Amino acid sequence: MASDRLTTRLGPIELRSPLIAASGTVGSVWEWAEVADVSPYGAAVAKSVAPVEWSGRPAPRLAPAGPGMLNGIGIQNPGIEAWVETMAPLLAGLGVPVWGSAVGETPDEFAMVAKGLVSAGVPVIEINLSCPNLEDGRMFSLDAPRSAEVVTAVAATSEVPVGAKLSPNTDDIVAVAAACLAAGATFLTLTNTILGFGIDPVTGRPLLSGGVGGYSGPGLKAISLRSVYEVSQALPGAPIVGCGGVMTGRDVVEYLLAGASAVAIGTAHLAEPRAGKRIERELSRDLERRDVTVPDLIGGVVPW
Ligand SMILES: Cc1cc2nc3c(=O)[nH]c(=O)nc-3n(C[C@H](O)[C@H](O)[C@H](O)COP(=O)(O)O)c2cc1C
Repeated sequence: MASDRLTTRLGPIELRSPLIAASGTVGSVWEWAEVADVSPYGAAVAKSVAPVEWSGRPAPRLAPAGPGMLNGIGIQNPGIEAWVETMAPLLAGLGVPVWGSAVGETPDEFAMVAKGLVSAGVPVIEINLSCPNLEDGRMFSLDAPRSAEVVTAVAATSEVPVGAKLSPNTDDIVAVAAACLAAGATFLTLTNTILGFGIDPVTGRPLLSGGVGGYSGPGLKAISLRSVYEVSQALPGAPIVGCGGVMTGRDVVEYLLAGASAVAIGTAHLAEPRAGKRIERELSRDLERRDVTVPDLIGGVVPW
């Protein structure tokens, strides 16, 4: 059970723990909940869902790459109607709040998916503005006004808090973050994967069938941490979920100090589905040693 030191808030959302399972790395949550202990998590975000079924890209769509990995799944998902039918009955009994994740190609598509997610009972929606694997290759979150349009459309149709998940690939993440908050986002998730590429030197082929994909894991941490730090410095008090390369309790502390109020774990789950339990233990020990709570650390970076 999460200790009192771990409770935190993401704007109006109360979390029993700052640890969140990142979208796409824990399936639709129920499969993962069968093998992992979900008690260390404040929430788990289901795989992104689109308006209709997307079959995803052909294999290979996952590959190790240095200290991290590349993925080019192409958001394989059953479409919102099938998702609601199969997930709604499962959401309640999992022992962790399950947040929905919406993806689409237009603001109206995002809004339609969000409506379906809410009808299935999700308490929070994350909108995936940053998927690098869309066929037209454009991410909403490279463009502040386009991102704001999506947030506005979703916020207008959903009575639950809405988070905007952004890409580290933009040259001005502060502008995109500010536009999303102004359009009604309750929180920001910083960040999704960064664009990456790899080649098999034996075959000469790209590691992924789609060529360029999303790079995640330990190599992403310094980049996502920079995003959290810059946004938090420019927009003090913005509710932020830090995400990228979290493998240890120490990584969580760094994200909190940079300004995140909660921290998502992604790639770590693929090698270690029970990573949350270990990371919670490491974090709790660190908090006890310092005799502080999670909220005490948020934004506590000390300037030189
Ligand atoms: C295999 C895989 C699938 C992913 N699918 C999604 C997804 O459907 N929606 C989403 O918002 N992010 C998705 N992500 C991104 C993660 O949620 C996370 O933002 C990213 O991997 C960075 O965190 P990490 O370094 O801890 O993995 C996926 C990541 C991986 C590795």
